[in-house]
Amino acid sequence: MKRILITGGNGLLGQTVTRLLSQETDHEVLVTGREQRSVIGKIPVQYVRLDVTDKKQLRDCIQDFQPDTIINTAANTDVDACEEDREKAQLLNVKPVEYLAEAARITGAHVIHISTDYVFDGERAPLDESAAPKPVNYYGRTKLASENVLRGAGVRHTIIRTMILYGYGVEIKPNFALWVLNNLSANKTINVVVDQYGQPTFVDDLGYGIIKIIDLERLGLYHITGSEVTSRYDFAVTVAEIFKLNKSLIQPISSEEFRQAAPRPRYSEFVTQKARMELGIRLSNVREGLSMLKKQMEHRTHNFY
Ligand SMILES: NC(=O)c1ccc[n+]([C@@H]2O[C@H](COP(=O)([O-])OP(=O)(O)OC[C@H]3O[C@@H](n4cnc5c(N)ncnc54)[C@H](OP(=O)(O)O)[C@@H]3O)[C@@H](O)[C@H]2O)c1
Repeated sequence: MKRILITGGNGLLGQTVTRLLSQETDHEVLVTGREQRSVIGKIPVQYVRLDVTDKKQLRDCIQDFQPDTIINTAANTDVDACEEDREKAQLLNVKPVEYLAEAARITGAHVIHISTDYVFDGERAPLDESAAPKPVNYYGRTKLASENVLRGAGVRHTIIRTMILYGYGVEIKPNFALWVLNNLSANKTINVVVDQYGQPTFVDDLGYGIIKIIDLERLGLYHITGSEVTSRYDFAVTVAEIFKLNKSLIQPISSEEFRQAAPRPRYSEFVTQKARMELGIRLSNVREGLSMLKKQMEHRTHNFY
């Protein structure tokens, strides 16, 4: 049994890892988040309010709990907001990793940190763990900086790069799949880009990968994503098909017309062989992941949330 501390525990990945750890393992888990309480009321977890930008609070929390493993899921994941407020992006995405690394150096904890395909420019594919990063937006720059903090910190660490996370959670910021679902369910038209490609990742697959990394004590860098490359538009259409919604409400649009504040990589594809072979995990394709999401949402009232 290990002692596991989770930051950003009320976010999509934080909730998922909390649920999987409590269902699948006997590890002792301390969930932390900046809200007053844990939003996943049905799972009995220890919860402490923690703002990861508060260095003293973070250090005290780690020193009190003495975790074997820290899973850092806290971040500012709003890519356009990071472009517009760079100081805040730095404060949320890089500084806490410095504080975590400092505390982990003292206690000896293993730090698992989550990064992104946005550390790449989307001009070369497929990318394995040895590919040279080249971010095209500020969010990507902060995530790359956070990776580099850990690499230079002299702590046992694992960095996981993932992309387009989707899944169900309580009171979470809607991920792309839920955003499509919410709008189509309300009979609203949505514009979706046809020229941005990536591998949508069912969040439970990533959660299982994290559990394997904890148990096998794997260090280094892993690419963990869904098994299939698709455009945002085709992903949205598949959401409509799986949830039996009206796909004619999805309007194709180019990135040029869509005008997002932060530029996006055009084409992201990862080689996930290292994660699949070393961790023994299976990564879902889009239809499999969305079908599991649908099942979870149908059963959510008496299942885990
Ligand atoms: N979502 C994706 O598509 C994606 C893709 C690649 C990589 N990632 C990475 O995966 C990780 C998890 O992402 P996610 O999708 O689970 O994001 P999420 O749902 O936005 O969760 C992030 C959590 O961090 C919390 N947080 C923000 N600032 C904090 C602070 N100062 N102190 C404590 N908690 C704070 C947020 O709380 P509030 O809600 O209160 O802000 C939120 O609960 C992140 O590192 C992200 O960069 C995500």
